[in-house]
Amino acid sequence: MGKVYVFDHPLIQHKLTYIRDKNTGTKEFRELVDEVATLMAFEITRELPTEEIEIKTPVTTAKTQVLSGKKMAIVPILRAGIGMVEGVLKLIPAAKVGHIGLYRDPETLKPIEYYAKLPADVEERDFIIVDPMLATGGSAIEAINSLKKRGAKSIKFMCLIAAPEGVKAIHDEHPEIDIYIAALDEKLDDHGYIVPGLGDAGDRLFGTK
Ligand code: PRP
Ligand code: URA
Repeated sequence: MGKVYVFDHPLIQHKLTYIRDKNTGTKEFRELVDEVATLMAFEITRELPTEEIEIKTPVTTAKTQVLSGKKMAIVPILRAGIGMVEGVLKLIPAAKVGHIGLYRDPETLKPIEYYAKLPADVEERDFIIVDPMLATGGSAIEAINSLKKRGAKSIKFMCLIAAPEGVKAIHDEHPEIDIYIAALDEKLDDHGYIVPGLGDAGDRLFGTK
């Protein structure tokens, strides 16, 4: 069964408070999402494999660790996921970036794929799907379906705020997926918004309404 990691690091929680605050403007919102994505990337890469190499320090030779060349890819769910890409790339600069475009039908709230472009070597890559919000889980499930359909074998899902309903929905459909969250909120409202949440992540990132 996939695990659920909630990152309760004080820096992440502090920045998330200002991300949630409705008085935080677009510029600051964008900067904070970027910073939290970097901090989350630090935690999410904790298990990356390393290998020993020998180097010469100015003092002596030493056997030390380097990353053992995992092939990674970050996949933002358009649009709001884009706000987390640069933050993750700061720590994993060699990662490739795929894109999955989904919008939610306003009536049914069901996600509809309108774009998908992934790195060519899908089967060999470790994918991290990024999206600030995991609400009903429909978008995340569709993004995971889309990656699996194209051959992806290793997929993680990372978001800022999740509703319990969304976490359960992912694990009902894709039980093996590990989910990384900055905050697990209370519930969804009748419109599929996370409570207390942060409002509409895409609108707040890009200044649209
Ligand atoms: C938001 C968010 C997620 C989705 C989550 O995107 O960025 O992708 O909703 O909701 P769900 O878990 O119920 O599917 P939205 O559909 O508003 O599109 P946008 O990123 O273009 O604003
Ligand atoms: N999408 C958002 O942007 N916010 C929510 O609260 C739910 C879905």
